[in-house]
Amino acid sequence: MSQIERPKTIVTRKLPSAVEARMAELFDVELNADDTPMTEDELRDAVARAEVFVPTVTDDISADILEAAGDQLKLIANFGVGVDHIDLSAARAKNMIVTNTPGVLTEDTADMVMALILSVPRRLAEGEKLVRAGGWQGWRPTGMLGHRVNGKRLGIIGMGRIGQAIARRARGFGLSVHYHNRHRLPEAVEQTLDAQWHDDLDDMLAEIDILTINCPYTSETHHLIDEARLGLLGRDVYVINAARGEIIDEAALAAVLENGQIAGAGLDVYENEPEIEPRLLGLDNVVLLPHLGSATFEGREAMGDKVIANIRIWADGHRPPDQVLEGWV
Ligand code: DGY
Repeated sequence: MSQIERPKTIVTRKLPSAVEARMAELFDVELNADDTPMTEDELRDAVARAEVFVPTVTDDISADILEAAGDQLKLIANFGVGVDHIDLSAARAKNMIVTNTPGVLTEDTADMVMALILSVPRRLAEGEKLVRAGGWQGWRPTGMLGHRVNGKRLGIIGMGRIGQAIARRARGFGLSVHYHNRHRLPEAVEQTLDAQWHDDLDDMLAEIDILTINCPYTSETHHLIDEARLGLLGRDVYVINAARGEIIDEAALAAVLENGQIAGAGLDVYENEPEIEPRLLGLDNVVLLPHLGSATFEGREAMGDKVIANIRIWADGHRPPDQVLEGWV
């Protein structure tokens, strides 16, 4: 591939200032200064003009949008690790390379999952609301009891980078680690993490106290946790999701939470972001966060650095390091 000096690069959302400044040095870049999400027409116009397109999780890059792309669009350098918002088959059919930003948000996301694992059973958000509302009347032996985390069984769905980072943290909190993954981890890794593999997801669901979802969202994981699987969880089980909302049937989750069929949930992601199933908003046993998993200054800059490296290396005529390959998800 020939080299491209300053590829025409269109970015859909505002990025950290240092990232934008570096992009402006290296590329012929169009930024989104006021951060207003692009409309479908604006996305179509962008892909029709860009050589490199930099979307993120809030953009729906459907086959229909990519249909508007000109032959000059060769690289979609996603700002983020999840690429479920991009129609990968349509991109491949048009010979576009898609890259993402793996690795740099692993620890931040795992921290956020641990925060939810602690917050929900220990009722941290509820307690905080009580104090701020002036409702706290002092310590009581029976006041705001929650469930102990130490000694419980954690079930992790998806044992990639983030799942493993959660497993490492979980051991420190005295949780035993169970996991379900498309592929069993090598024995040495299982031993290091002290993690027990469950070939059958349903078997694992019936055994655990806390479930955390950390797999990619694909057509196979759509509503992986549906009404039937929620029914396998015990009454004292907590569900945590910081992966993608669509992996859980949100309406079914609201129903089991309302009925007390499970103990609570900690959610950082939703089926129709930024909309949230209204029934969840009214429940005290649910902690709701606004998709904060990777929201650290350090993480977002590192994501930007990865986007830049992918574009630069591609523009220099090489295969970008974070190319999303067929069968990746
Ligand atoms: C990602 O990178 O996929 C996250 O969900 C955004 O932080």
